[in-house]
Amino acid sequence: MLERLDPQAPDALLALIKMFNDDPREDKIDLGVGVYRDEEGRTPVFRAIKAAEEKLHETQDSKSYLGPEGDSGFVNGLMPYIFGDDDPTRGGRIAGMQTPGGTGAVRLAFALAQAAGGKSVVLGEPSWPNHRQIAKDIGLDIIGFDHAADAATTDFGALEAAIEKAQPGDVLLLHGSSHNPTGIDYTVEQWERIAELSKAAQLVPVLDIAYQGLGEGLEEDVAGMRAFLAAVPEAMVTYSCDKNFGLYRDRVGAFYVLAADRDILDRAISNANSLARANWSMPPDHGGATVRVLLRDADLTAQWKEELTAMRGRLRWIRDTLAKAGTTGAIDLTPLGEHNGLFSMLPVDSDQVAALRKDHGIYMAGSGRINIAGLNESNIDRFIAALADVTG
Ligand code: LMR
Repeated sequence: MLERLDPQAPDALLALIKMFNDDPREDKIDLGVGVYRDEEGRTPVFRAIKAAEEKLHETQDSKSYLGPEGDSGFVNGLMPYIFGDDDPTRGGRIAGMQTPGGTGAVRLAFALAQAAGGKSVVLGEPSWPNHRQIAKDIGLDIIGFDHAADAATTDFGALEAAIEKAQPGDVLLLHGSSHNPTGIDYTVEQWERIAELSKAAQLVPVLDIAYQGLGEGLEEDVAGMRAFLAAVPEAMVTYSCDKNFGLYRDRVGAFYVLAADRDILDRAISNANSLARANWSMPPDHGGATVRVLLRDADLTAQWKEELTAMRGRLRWIRDTLAKAGTTGAIDLTPLGEHNGLFSMLPVDSDQVAALRKDHGIYMAGSGRINIAGLNESNIDRFIAALADVTG
């Protein structure tokens, strides 16, 4: 039977990790998979996370099962950061559960919307490739539209046209902040307008937050999303702790539902529990428990915020340096100064991406997406010169 299966191509982004590791050149530059890197190119464990792990190790007295909802202390501990200090449950209309990474949360959100009758996902593209892949795997269609109008602004008209094509119950997927892969986000005013459009079309908004704190600030990065949530009767939020707590391989995510009232909220969460049980039974515990310990300790929380601020500052320096370089070869780097977070897209074709890899040891996604965190004081000039070499 298994011979009937067609071979599948490995995930292009994850394959890039192996290609980079196999390259013997000492001065190679990794702008591929989305992980934060420090000035030395490392992705260290946060000091606040290390300390929280030690505390967890000393105090954890059981590893017995929790339930499909995971660690409720972790889930509730994140809520003031996502939804605001002032009534984070919005009068008892928001509840959540832990998931295996943000990916598990996105899968749960799509599956729940489908169980409620949704048939399609309205998706601005390019997007994180796994959004499309998860939707396809679940059996949802895609109503795609161009996320960006140019190198620095969103294409609002394309979003409006896509919403017009959707049916009530369809998903509207929006990136909370630091859009992956373009780095181009909606303004707060646009978020408010999208909320009106979504409500009128009776869509199920899914707000995917994977980079809180890496754009403009912990609060700033969710301002648009909070304005959106204040204006809609229901929505789902999918959250990843990969980047802002540096917990990538521990698979730490959360899923929240905002419902019109408590009865609908209970129904949604009971369905989400049942879907989680059928998919993964329970989320892995360690990372979520670590974040719970961290967020309950004022000193560790302050340290985590400091580390996050330093990361954001470094990303800002890289963006400013690229923007100041102006045009290199055929590429105008100025708009990168306006973008947020880890990613930006470069207007390079697949031959140029291959030439950067072969001739300069510079690794980036085939789409032209770069993870700017792979740049530092010692390689940024070489990167800019290499772009001129392959595009000039
Ligand atoms: C990325 O976009 O590079 C990251 O979110 C890693 C992943 O899982 O794709």
